Amino acid sequence: MSVFKEDGWKYFDISYLPKKMPHREKEKNEIVDIFKLGLDKNVFKIPVIYGPSGTGKTTVIHKVFKELKELYDGLIETYVLNSLTAAKTYVAITRIASHLIPIPHRGLSQDEIIDRLYNVLKMRDQRYLVALDDSDDLIRRDGGKIIELLTRIEEEYGERLIYPIIIVRNMAPIYSLSDHIKSKIDGPKIEFRPYNWRELIDIIEERIELGLKEDAISENAVKVSAYISDEIFNGSAREMINLIYNSGLVADRENNSRIIAEHVRKAFYMSYSRNIAPAISDMEINILKAIAKRLSADLDKIEITKEDITYIYEYFRDRGSRRIELKQFIHILDEELYLKKKLLYKDESGRYIFFYYPVTHILNIV
Ligand SMILES: Nc1ncnc2c1ncn2[C@@H]1O[C@H](COP(=O)(O)OP(=O)(O)OP(=O)(O)O)[C@@H](O)[C@H]1O
Ligand SMILES: [Mg+2]
Repeated sequence: MSVFKEDGWKYFDISYLPKKMPHREKEKNEIVDIFKLGLDKNVFKIPVIYGPSGTGKTTVIHKVFKELKELYDGLIETYVLNSLTAAKTYVAITRIASHLIPIPHRGLSQDEIIDRLYNVLKMRDQRYLVALDDSDDLIRRDGGKIIELLTRIEEEYGERLIYPIIIVRNMAPIYSLSDHIKSKIDGPKIEFRPYNWRELIDIIEERIELGLKEDAISENAVKVSAYISDEIFNGSAREMINLIYNSGLVADRENNSRIIAEHVRKAFYMSYSRNIAPAISDMEINILKAIAKRLSADLDKIEITKEDITYIYEYFRDRGSRRIELKQFIHILDEELYLKKKLLYKDESGRYIFFYYPVTHILNIV
C-alpha cells in the first residue's frame, strides 16, 4: 500500500518538467517575447533572470526553449548550460559548441571554437539560443569573458546568430563587471521572487494530482509544508516538492494511506530540524510537551487556537514545578519560542502554527 500512484514518484523528481507553472506564466511569456523580438525583428539585448534558489529559473528557461523550438521548427537550436559544472570560460564555451559540433578535446583556442560555431550555424541557417544557467561563479571568475565570446560573432560579422540569456541567483557579480562588458548585458532584468505559502500550494497541485492517489494527502499537510517552505526554506518550490515527497515516504513507511501534518513534521525533522535544534530550557521543554499533548489528539492539527492555549497552559501549570501566570506563559511563547528560537510560527491572523518537531517524538521524551 502506498500513497503514491504507480510511478507517481517521478512527478516529484527534478527531471519532471511541470505542465503548468503557476505564478511564473508572466515571466515565461515575457522571456518568450524577448526571444521572438530578437528572432523576428533582430531587436535583442541580453536579458538576465535573477532570483534565489528554487524559484523556477531553470524550469522556466527549459519551458521557454521548448515552446520556441516548436514555434521556430528547425530554425533554432537551444542549449541550457549548467555553469556550475563549467565554471571556467574554456569549459563553458566548449560545452556550448559541443552541443552542435564535435570539438576536439585539445588544440582549439576559444576564438577558434566560436568561429566553428559561427560556420556551422551559418551553414545550417540556424540561430542558437544559449542560457548560461547558474552563472554567478562563471561570471565572477571570468569577469564576463564568456559574454564577450558569445557576442563576438555579431560584432565581427555584423550578424547575430547567438542569443544568450544569463541566469543568476544574485545580481552582484553582474554589477561588478567592467563597464564595457556590463554594457553588453543591457536587456531586461527579470526578477524571480521567492514564492509565498499560498503560491506554493498552487505550485504543488499538479504533482499531487499526478503523483498521489486520490485523497492521499490532507489539506493541513499541504498547508504546513507550504508554511515550512515559505518560512524556513525562503519560498523555494524545490523544498516544497521534496517535503511533500518525503512526507509521502514517511506515510508509506508507517502504513498510512494518507499523508497528514505529523508526517510532514517527521519529514521536516529528519531532513532539517533535528540537525539545528536550538538550546532550550527545561521549562521550554515542558511547554513543548504540553503543546504536543494537545496536538496529539489530532495528529493532522497544526494550528494552536486560543482555546488550545488555555488547555496547554493548564496542562503545563498542573505538572510544572514552577508556577507562572498565564500572562507570563504567553510571554514565553511569544518572546522565546516564537521570536527568539523560532520553534513556533505565526500565520497571518497571528495564530501559532506548530511544525518544528513531530508531536509524537516530543511525547516520547521522558
Ligand atoms: N511555478 C512553478 N510551478 C511548478 N513547479 C515549479 C514552479 N517553480 C519551480 N517549480 C519546480 O521547483 C523545482 C525547482 O525549480 P528550479 O530548479 O527551476 O529553480 P531555480 O530557480 O533554477 O533554482 P536554483 O537557483 O537552485 O537553480 C523544480 O522541480 C521545478 O519544476
Ligand atoms: Mg536552477
